[in-house]
Amino acid sequence: MCLWIFAYLNYCVPRTRKEIFETLVKGLQRLEYRGYDSAGIAVDGNKKTTTEDDGKIVLIKKKGKVKALDEELYKKDCMDLEVELDTHFGIAHTRWATHGEPSALNSHPQRSDKNNEFVVIHNGIITNYKELKKYLNSKGYEFESETDTEVIPKLIKYVYDNRERDDMSFSTLVERVIQQLEGAFALVFKSHYFPGEAVATRRGSPLLIGVRSKYELSAEHIPIQYNTVFQSLGPSFDTPVLTSEGVQDKNSHNRPDKPDKSTAVNSAGDGKAVEYYFASDASAIIEHTNKVIYLEDDDIAAVVGGKLSLHRVNSLAGEDSVRAIQTLQMELQEIMKGNFEAFMQKEIFEQPESVFNTMRGRICFHTNKGRLKDHLKEIKRCRRLIMIGCGTSFHAAVATRQILEELTELPVMVELASDFLDRNTPVFRDDVCFYISQSGETADTLMALRYCKDRGALTVGVTNTVGSSISRDTDCGVHINAGPEIGVASTKAYTSQFVALIMFGLMMSEDRISLQPRRLEIINGLKILPDMIKNVLTLDNKIKSIADELYQQKSLLVMGRGFNYATCLEGALKIKEITYMHSEGILAGELKHGPLALIDKHMPVIMIIMKDACYTKCQNALQQVTARSGRPIILCCQDDQEMSENAYKTIELPHTVDCLQGILSVIPLQLLSFHLAVLRGYDVSLPLPALSLWTLIT
Ligand code: M6R
Repeated sequence: MCLWIFAYLNYCVPRTRKEIFETLVKGLQRLEYRGYDSAGIAVDGNKKTTTEDDGKIVLIKKKGKVKALDEELYKKDCMDLEVELDTHFGIAHTRWATHGEPSALNSHPQRSDKNNEFVVIHNGIITNYKELKKYLNSKGYEFESETDTEVIPKLIKYVYDNRERDDMSFSTLVERVIQQLEGAFALVFKSHYFPGEAVATRRGSPLLIGVRSKYELSAEHIPIQYNTVFQSLGPSFDTPVLTSEGVQDKNSHNRPDKPDKSTAVNSAGDGKAVEYYFASDASAIIEHTNKVIYLEDDDIAAVVGGKLSLHRVNSLAGEDSVRAIQTLQMELQEIMKGNFEAFMQKEIFEQPESVFNTMRGRICFHTNKGRLKDHLKEIKRCRRLIMIGCGTSFHAAVATRQILEELTELPVMVELASDFLDRNTPVFRDDVCFYISQSGETADTLMALRYCKDRGALTVGVTNTVGSSISRDTDCGVHINAGPEIGVASTKAYTSQFVALIMFGLMMSEDRISLQPRRLEIINGLKILPDMIKNVLTLDNKIKSIADELYQQKSLLVMGRGFNYATCLEGALKIKEITYMHSEGILAGELKHGPLALIDKHMPVIMIIMKDACYTKCQNALQQVTARSGRPIILCCQDDQEMSENAYKTIELPHTVDCLQGILSVIPLQLLSFHLAVLRGYDVSLPLPALSLWTLIT
């Protein structure tokens, strides 16, 4: 899912191949902070004397860091680095594996065929790739990678091979391709048949284009060309285009793939020399230009003869018919870190997007053809489910246990991997064991996996890392698609594990008639979850002010029960891990059995009291706390008057379905631990105990 795009087109701006490599590599390095596991580029090869090799595209791809790719570029002695290319289009990409393990073959650019006729870089996920692959296979197109992306270059070649006219433009081919794609994508295409041309498009994944010219761009926006003309006339349409002289309307130029001879002179300095930068993120562009155009879903941008034009298949009512050329005000430094002080903070704020990505393409469970689905019958016949993990991943199991019991009607055990092994827990052939792990490499979880495999249980992985040991060694599994988690404190992986496990419960209960109303309630809750998370994130300032009050304390208790017990454990773990404060997650039902002794007016207590089946029981716990002069900070539902009256402070959250509420209630605790750590002077990105582990992992 997480893949980053950078592409560079120089038109009538002579650049050596070495300079082009440097620009592409620098672009990728600017996106490096987002995490990736492999990288690749595509450029034009050397011009040969034989016409058949002329301009053949060269692909260079490498598993690992951009640095490794960079070294590889200079090993290609067939490439003349000093040759000057007046006009050239190069594309580059970093990939975080989601379909297929990290490898050169699976990395991008993906290609149409062994001659590299069409090459593509992609950020996103193609959810109907299996159907497309099957169709293209039946037409004789052979696949070489395990990626979803590879269907795209194959599909464009198929459209090209079967085109009804020889003069069909590159952007028309792309338009035909995206009409067949489902899922999310930002795409940049390069083709041997269209040298010096670029086509880019997006749906659901970000993409922007930077424009640089030594000549002033006179226009402030680019009109969109709608498709009635576009479709009927193919390459011969009259479209407003951007050049270094600004936007020309359809009467003042020739069509973009056959530029006006009066302006299309093949040398720089004649008023039309221009460079274009395509990227997933402004951080890769800002050092070259601050003039950018953000593409909207289904926009198709084409550069032909140095002129940029924008097209759409359909116009939607009320839609803007222009795209503004915006001036970025930020400095590079600012964009890299955005408004965030640390990766943990950035990842907390990514959660509306990351939980959406976990659900993307999976919410229609009847169409899910994932590996897990293949084992569903077997899972339904099992004796019990055993959910195994460590730390935060274990908490995701605790958080979803109750709803899994309800939806699967099976006994569900949750196990800390180390304890599970220490006990030599009995495991049987008809058990189904889940291994929950962000990294997919945690030693205890991995050992528990081997232990259960030896005993014949069916094994299911829930990881964020394709190609990890757990994803490889389990019988089937779910990739949570949260994107790389760089912060040592796990945040977005937790909420995505939570969502993935709930979705598993929904799958298991698909054919239980009596459970349909409950399923529907949860599905509706999942749909609006990203917006609710955004709403919770707006509480950041309030939470920061609570942290200002608490940061000098020695200890912090977090109490709750039912669906929110896991939130207490997870909140306390976050606080311990990065603030070095003592913190304990306490089951509110256990209060009277000992922990109440800790409560007095000096002990900070956070209580989670949401409007669910445990509300009254939690109110009892609250009374016990206030009776001992405790001053509880209560996480409660918006407009819960009773809580406001009894709390020292409240943090009010939107109310959702009981089994999803924990996704919302953990976020204030993630934010609180972050602010506490900063106020206490710790480096949130590298808490000391994690340092050696982190060094090992990276
Ligand atoms: O990669 P895993 O999910 O298997 O890691 C398990 C724990 O080490 C991890 O969740 C840890 O508890 C977090 N860093 C806590 O924030």
